[in-house]
Amino acid sequence: MLENVNISIEKRAALILADNHRLTHTVPAPNNYPHQWLWDSSFVAVGLSHLDPDKADIEITSLLEGQWANGMLPHMLFNRDKLGSNPKLNLDYILWNSHRSPDAPTDVFTSGITQPPIVAEAVQQVGRRLSGEDRKDFMVYAMRKLIRYHQWIYAERDYNQNGLMSAVHPWETGMDNTPPWVGYMRQHEHSGLVLVTDNIVVNGLLKAIRRDAKETMLDERTLTSDGIIFTNAALRLRHLRYDKQRMMEQHSPYIEDVAMNSILIRNNAILREMSEDLDYSLPEELTAKMRQTEQSLDSLLWDEEAQLFYSRDAKTKQLLKTPTVGSLLPLYAGTLDPIKTAQLVDHLRDNESFATDFAVPSVPINDENFDEKRMWSGPTWINMNWLIIKGLRRSGYRTDAEELTEKTLRMVYENGYREYFSAINGEGLGIDNFSWTAALVIDLLRNPE
Ligand code: GLC
Repeated sequence: MLENVNISIEKRAALILADNHRLTHTVPAPNNYPHQWLWDSSFVAVGLSHLDPDKADIEITSLLEGQWANGMLPHMLFNRDKLGSNPKLNLDYILWNSHRSPDAPTDVFTSGITQPPIVAEAVQQVGRRLSGEDRKDFMVYAMRKLIRYHQWIYAERDYNQNGLMSAVHPWETGMDNTPPWVGYMRQHEHSGLVLVTDNIVVNGLLKAIRRDAKETMLDERTLTSDGIIFTNAALRLRHLRYDKQRMMEQHSPYIEDVAMNSILIRNNAILREMSEDLDYSLPEELTAKMRQTEQSLDSLLWDEEAQLFYSRDAKTKQLLKTPTVGSLLPLYAGTLDPIKTAQLVDHLRDNESFATDFAVPSVPINDENFDEKRMWSGPTWINMNWLIIKGLRRSGYRTDAEELTEKTLRMVYENGYREYFSAINGEGLGIDNFSWTAALVIDLLRNPE
C-alpha cells in the first residue's frame, strides 16, 4: 500500500483511540460500550504501545487492578461515573453484583466472568516499547499478576483436569453469539427462559443488554431471545456467587472453547518467555499444566473428518461440530505440527468457505449458520484477522500473512473503523470508530512480526 495511505490510516486510528480514551483506559466505543473490557483493552494496548508506551502501560495497569483475590481477571471493569450516584440501582450492577463473591475487589466494580486470556501478549508488546526502569517495573508487576491469573484458569476452570480451560458463559469467549455456543445455549436454557420472561428484573436488564441497539441495526446484533438466554445464564452465575464448587455442581455451560484455549496456549508461551527475560521462575505445576493444554488441544479438540478444531462440551465430552473462525485459531497457538497447520491454511485458502474477498468470515460462507450481518455469525472481525496473521507469520506462511494483512488494511481504509465487516462485500457493520479495530490496524502497519 502507498506510504501516504498508510499514514492517513494510522492518523485516523490514533484519533479514534484518543477520542475513546478515559483517564486510565480506553473504552471500546463510548455509547455502546462505556466501560473497560479485558480483551478490548489488551488489543488497544498493543496499538497504543506504538504511539505512546506510557499510556499503554497505564491501560494494562488499570486493567490488572480489577484482579480478584482468587486471581481472576474480570471481563469488565465498570466506569464509576457511568454507574451513577447509587450504583446499586444500576443495571450492570444488578446483573453482576460481583460483591456476592468474597474474592471480588471492593474498590473496583467488575463483572464476574473473564474473557480470552490475551493480556500476556499485550504486556510483552508494551514492555518492548518501554525503556529502562519503567520497563522493568511494568513487566515485573504485570508478570506477577499474570502468573496468578493463569494459575486461576487451571485451578478453577480446568473442568476435566486435562489442561483445557472451560468457559462458563458465551460472553466469556468474547465471541458472544458464535453459532456453536448459541446452539448449545438454546438447547440447554429452556426451563430458565420460562422463569425469566415473567421477571421484572430481567426485563429491565434486557434494556441494558440491548444498549447495543442505540447505534446499530438490530439485524447486526445478538437476537433478543438469545440475549434473554445469555442474561439468564449470567444471573445463575451471580446466584452461585461465582463460587467454583457451586458452579461445578450446578452450572452449565462448561465448554472447552477452542478459541480461548488457542489464545491461552500462546499467552502461556509468552509468559514463559517473559519469565526467562526477567529471570523469574514459574511454578513447576503451572508449566506442567501449560504443556497439558497444548497436548489436549491437539488430541481432544481436533476433528479428523472435518480437519478442523472444534470446541467441546466439558461435561459430555462431545465436540460442538459447528465451524467458525475459532476453528482456525490454533494457528495463533503456534504449537501445531506442520500437517495440521497446512490443513488449517487450506481452509483459509478455500474460496467456498473462509477465503472470501473480505476474509476472514467469523462463520464460513458455505455453512448453514452463516449470517452476513449478524455479529460473530458471519462478519469479519479485525481481531480475528490479527490473531490469524500472527499465527501465519510464525508458522512460516509469510505470503498468506501479507495477503491477509493487505486485505484487512484495505477493508478498514475503504469501509471505516467499524466493529465488523461483511465478508462478502466489505460493508462496515456494527459500531463505528471501534477501538480495537483502530489499535490493531496500527499494529499491522507498524509491526511485521
Ligand atoms: C461485544 C463483543 C466482545 C467485546 C465487547 C466490547 O460484546 O462481542 O468481544 O469485548 O463487545 O467491545
